[in-house]
Amino acid sequence: MENTQHKVLEIMFPLGLLLLLLLLLKFSPAIANEQEPAAVGLRNMDDEQSSLQTYIVFTKKPEAAGANSLQHEDLNAWYQSFLPTATSSNHQPQIVHTYRNVVTGFAARLTPEQVKAMEGKEGFLSAQAERMLALQTTHTPYFLGLTKNRGWELWKNESNYGKGVIIGVVDTGIWPDHPSFGDEGVPPAPDKWKGKCELNGTVCNNKLIGARNCIHGDANTLSPYEVGHGTHTSSTAAGNFVKDANAYGNANGTAVGMAPHAHLAIYKVCSIEGCNSSDMLAGLDAAVEDGVDVISMSIVYYHNDYIPFHEDAIALGAFGATQKGILVSCSAGNIGPEHKTLSNEAPWILTVGASTIDRTIKATARLRNGAEFGGESVYQPKDFLPVLLPLIYAGSNGNRSSAFCKDGSLRNMDVKGKIVLCETGGPVSIIAQGYEVRSAGGSAMIVINRKQDGYTTLAEDHVLPATHLDYASGLKIKAYINSTQNPKATILFRGTVIGESSSVAPAVPFFSSRGPSKASPGILKPDIIGPGVSILAAYPFPTDSNIARKKTSMFNILSGTSMSCPHLSGIAALLKSSHPYWSPAAIKSAIMTTADVVNHHGKPIVDEKRSPADVFAIGAGHVNPSKANNPGLIYDIQPDDYIPYLCGLNYTDKQVEIITQRTIKCSKVESIAETQLNYPSFSVVLGSESLSFTRTVTNVGEAKSTYNLEKFVPPGIGIIVRPEQIVFSEVNQKATYTVEFIPHSHKQIGEINPQSHTGKDSKRYAEGYLRWVSDKYSVRSPISIIFA
Ligand SMILES: *[C@@H]1O[C@H](CO)[C@@H](O)[C@H](O)[C@H]1NC(C)=O
Ligand SMILES: *[C@@H]1O[C@H](CO)[C@@H](O)[C@H](O)[C@H]1NC(C)=O
Ligand SMILES: *[C@@H]1O[C@H](CO)[C@@H](O)[C@H](O)[C@H]1NC(C)=O
Ligand SMILES: *[C@@H]1O[C@H](CO)[C@@H](O)[C@H](O)[C@H]1NC(C)=O
Ligand SMILES: *[C@@H]1O[C@H](CO)[C@@H](O)[C@H](O)[C@H]1NC(C)=O
Ligand SMILES: *[C@@H]1O[C@H](CO)[C@@H](O)[C@H](O)[C@H]1NC(C)=O
Ligand SMILES: *[C@@H]1O[C@H](CO)[C@@H](O)[C@H](O)[C@H]1NC(C)=O
Repeated sequence: MENTQHKVLEIMFPLGLLLLLLLLLKFSPAIANEQEPAAVGLRNMDDEQSSLQTYIVFTKKPEAAGANSLQHEDLNAWYQSFLPTATSSNHQPQIVHTYRNVVTGFAARLTPEQVKAMEGKEGFLSAQAERMLALQTTHTPYFLGLTKNRGWELWKNESNYGKGVIIGVVDTGIWPDHPSFGDEGVPPAPDKWKGKCELNGTVCNNKLIGARNCIHGDANTLSPYEVGHGTHTSSTAAGNFVKDANAYGNANGTAVGMAPHAHLAIYKVCSIEGCNSSDMLAGLDAAVEDGVDVISMSIVYYHNDYIPFHEDAIALGAFGATQKGILVSCSAGNIGPEHKTLSNEAPWILTVGASTIDRTIKATARLRNGAEFGGESVYQPKDFLPVLLPLIYAGSNGNRSSAFCKDGSLRNMDVKGKIVLCETGGPVSIIAQGYEVRSAGGSAMIVINRKQDGYTTLAEDHVLPATHLDYASGLKIKAYINSTQNPKATILFRGTVIGESSSVAPAVPFFSSRGPSKASPGILKPDIIGPGVSILAAYPFPTDSNIARKKTSMFNILSGTSMSCPHLSGIAALLKSSHPYWSPAAIKSAIMTTADVVNHHGKPIVDEKRSPADVFAIGAGHVNPSKANNPGLIYDIQPDDYIPYLCGLNYTDKQVEIITQRTIKCSKVESIAETQLNYPSFSVVLGSESLSFTRTVTNVGEAKSTYNLEKFVPPGIGIIVRPEQIVFSEVNQKATYTVEFIPHSHKQIGEINPQSHTGKDSKRYAEGYLRWVSDKYSVRSPISIIFA
């Protein structure tokens, strides 16, 4: 998927622009060299330049100052004191970013030797080489019709459209002139807002109240103007109403984000290449300083290995934000469907997986024998006549490259005037496959899934008549080709279809990353799923395929957990608007305990194989905004509650201090097992001993209410909950209950298959739930049990 990401990003830009950017990046270090003092020997300098790297350096808070009365100058002087002093043979290292809010520390260009020298200094905690992060869009088709976001109708009455709430979007920047960022109906920014607008002129308004560039570099070339991704995510979270938006003639309606009257504050931390962790942390730091309420961040690490929270810049920054009452919503990642592929695992983050919506932009493949297979394509050419064309399997020459319709692989095949069957899973995006078919003379394309992508299909803006079909349909078409002398097929473009009876939405697409958590197996992740397949939202400028067709569009369709995350950020803003005093944990709890676990037909939510999706795919389930606004009970977590949890992860005092920015002695803290954190779900690692955990619920529903326990206990274990009834007489009253997990036998129902497929790491698991039910409310917690 990482490769695909690169490919896809490239396709988003006219080739010339991409090359220009690459060249600029390539040559900028050389320009810097020329400006170095001439006295420094050339060879020497080259060595140093090549070993210089950006490090994020974490320190203690300076002693003299109290935590809150810290002046900027004090902090700068403190950070400066860690840097080596310049000698004749080296240069004074430059601080790249100074952090004041979410972490204590700074980023600087340093050599490994300089870092080593710092380690002895009083107050030093750790230095981490900066790492690359990636945006979470899998595919970049473009454009099409506008539909109202699902759930919107139910929602608007209670929430006031998110009025008064500020969503900070940490992403690639914004294209401010888009109508989605108009401020009709949006009040001025609240008094607490301290941010700024680094955009040219007066483009900021009551909707877009701030935009800052946090990428270190030349301020003249880096403004928060952007390339696409950030505009899309921002408008999904809080785009204003855009009436009568219609596109390609395929759809017509009002485009609107989740919280249309919330404010947007933009922090540009990523370029088309991806993002640097030091810049991302600077974006979070600025957002907190400016006074945002919710942070939306569709970003994960490139490499999905185990990262403890004290080394995970996203987890660190999010912790600092959460401590200040800000909810941080992040993408789960796009490298499913295997287990243990998830990112952003910290319990203080709202981790969002993807789901499908019940809208398809339908393109049906019809074979000569009359069989039809429903697929998708955004490009719906009106002038493509549905006449039967010779059908050819691109892999019929036995060459895998050809089967994938890789660049140049069809050159020696006779595909002229034919409809070409290509397979996904090769190193090219499906749009690039279309380019190859077209340039080899093909008339149309059918793309079929590989096995692990199952039933997930994506609506993309192809360069020729095309449709994307699931794996099962692909097998049948291949068998048909084998079965006949003269196979033929065509494509019927059916336009936008909403709520088809065969739709199983919401379902989990193959790419949505899965738990269990690697960094903290005692916390169930992801937390929630939300729309992330073929999502239409604002887009800055006509895409290259649109230019080619002389179409201009202000909207674009993208897929990925990048799209799911801002849906949840916007919903969190609506909840914050209607419940201003709820903590980030309370908002999370409300979203999780009210989530749907069944689809539109009332059947269990399925995954890409159309099998019931497991808890590691859906977490608490599919977000239900209306219910989340009125959850009955919440599982709250106070900022300090994370300290015993972190100590329970067996982190050293120093590691805990990097996260908390406070001196902590874990030996003096009553540390807790991970599962003991007051989380709205349970993830239990069960050996031969029984385990017991407590939870505390707060009544935010009706004062006088009685809740009774319902539970589903998987075979092989016992779950005892005490008490089984909770009676409240007041609002905000708390009650505590205990859950005991007892291993009986090992009759488990599933197997965790991590990406490695070595089998060595595979473990058995089971799942269940418990639910507190009153006359009016149902408060559900999913349970996962991993057998140690
Ligand atoms: C909005 O809320 C009010 C009061 O809660 C209710 O009377 C009204 O029917 C609601 N309107 C809609 C459109 O749901
Ligand atoms: C500001 O806008 C003017 C006019 O559109 C343009 O020429 C200039 O380059 C812009 N400056 C920046 C920093 O974007
Ligand atoms: C879109 O819908 C509106 C309202 O239903 C209608 O007035 C308008 O003509 C439609 N536009 C197109 C292009 O169909
Ligand atoms: C990350 O930082 C390095 C070193 O400063 C720089 O060369 C690179 O362009 C940055 N990458 C991005 C995506 O900003
Ligand atoms: C398959 O096709 C590619 C591209 O045309 C070519 O480079 C490669 O050599 C072929 N492989 C085989 C085994 O024929
Ligand atoms: C089609 O025929 C080829 C060659 O005989 C065979 O390898 C392949 O499995 C067949 N495919 C299907 C789907 O039957
Ligand atoms: C922490 O260490 C204790 C004692 O060795 C052990 O029981 C516990 O499982 C460890 N916790 C984690 C999360 O590794």
